Amino acid sequence: MKKIKIGLLGCGTVGQGVYELLKLNKNKYLPLLEGTELEIVKILVNDLKKERGDIPVGLLTTNPYEIIHNEEIDVVIEVIGGTTNAEEYILDAIKNGKHIITANKDLMATKGQNILEQGNKYGKVVRYEASVAGAIPIISTIKEDLVSNQITKVMGIINGTTNFILTKMFAEGRSLDSVLKEAQDLGYAEADPTSDIEGLDAARKIAILASIAFNRRVKLSDVYVEGITKISVDDVNYAKQFKSTIKLLGIAILKENAIEVRVYPTLLPLTHPLANVDDVYNAVYLEGNAFGDLTLIGKGAGGLPTASAVVSDLLSIAKIINKGSIEVENCSCYLDLEIKKIEDTSSHYYFRMVVVDKTRVLSKIADAFADNFVSIDSVIQKKLPDGKAELVILTDRVLNKNMQSAREQIENLDVVLEIKSVLNSEKEY
Ligand code: NAP
Ligand code: HSE
Repeated sequence: MKKIKIGLLGCGTVGQGVYELLKLNKNKYLPLLEGTELEIVKILVNDLKKERGDIPVGLLTTNPYEIIHNEEIDVVIEVIGGTTNAEEYILDAIKNGKHIITANKDLMATKGQNILEQGNKYGKVVRYEASVAGAIPIISTIKEDLVSNQITKVMGIINGTTNFILTKMFAEGRSLDSVLKEAQDLGYAEADPTSDIEGLDAARKIAILASIAFNRRVKLSDVYVEGITKISVDDVNYAKQFKSTIKLLGIAILKENAIEVRVYPTLLPLTHPLANVDDVYNAVYLEGNAFGDLTLIGKGAGGLPTASAVVSDLLSIAKIINKGSIEVENCSCYLDLEIKKIEDTSSHYYFRMVVVDKTRVLSKIADAFADNFVSIDSVIQKKLPDGKAELVILTDRVLNKNMQSAREQIENLDVVLEIKSVLNSEKEY
């Protein structure tokens, strides 16, 4: 029987998921590929002695060149993560005639353009569906199924770890630190979970999605990023009072020939399609000029869910190999649109501050907002001990630079003891 031979770079959460899925659905794949068999022939790891379930030890190697320079291998799947080795191995594998599948958003958001161009140059397909939102087929949906539209907005919960943490903070009143360990044990978090909780992982993914949606290469360095480390249980409780939740969102908008692209924790009304997407689930809400809006929801991390995307890419490459015609169209970024600075974007904002509890405090704060063209939507005030009060204010939609100057002015008021947090808030959708 004809075989398509696969080299797996990495055998951790995703690598083992890929191995398991190929075994689980082997009988479904055979007729799809007209009898061609998919076979993993080598797997790169760091540590040959680690326990890896039923994966035969004989498949493992610590020598990457047994895969990337192996003439019998057709497809290389990169799931080692990181950028240094992964980039080197992928570029080398392309030059050595391998098609590539990667789940590596870190790499695609920083070096994606070069990798896709090298794929084009050598006539090799590069697929990276698993790099964004795990099991959700978001890249192929935007690239192929919605290609008839101009996408105008992409807004997503695209980091499973932070969604898991925020969900537990809301449901159980637990602190961030106490939930993070659980997310690590479940295999959701990155090797260094700082990139999850500081928003970098989501920033990489929204850079990839914005590039595809707007046909303009957006790099990680183009994305404005804030993580969830400053969110406290107090913010969670106030969000509930506003009939809202807090989600870490990746947002990309195309407006008047310019792009906005950012990641930050955002208050979302409970009626928003993304508001009840909880735990490790991811979701991407899209707006386009023909379909209107749609939302895709699915598991954003974990072995089998991520393998679902990797193996779907593998099947589509296998079909291309079987047909014998390689139509390589890896990169679709042909526009040169301006990327707006965060100061020039607009949002609703949530301010939480501790103030002196006496007369005229509210009016001084309202004046500071008004001086900077920031209008107030609603206010909650709570008495604290020792002559203090906590004030929570939601603004109307205003320019970020006006919010920043209002914040500076308020920070300098003698009646304001501390601004505890400022968050973005989405009201219209
Ligand atoms: P992981 O569990 O840490 O596994 C990494 C694997 O790669 C391990 O088997 C490790 O070997 C091997 N490895 C790492 N560096 C290596 C090197 N230089 N040489 C040889 N072997 C090396 O990582 P993962 O969670 O599977 O993630 C893999 C990739 O998928 C990352 O890019 C990640 O961002 C992405 N991703 C992950 C998820 C998820 O849910 N985990 C979802 C979507 C995308 P040892 O086992 O011997 O240590
Ligand atoms: N650490 C990532 C997350 C894995 O939590 O979403 C999936 O990319």
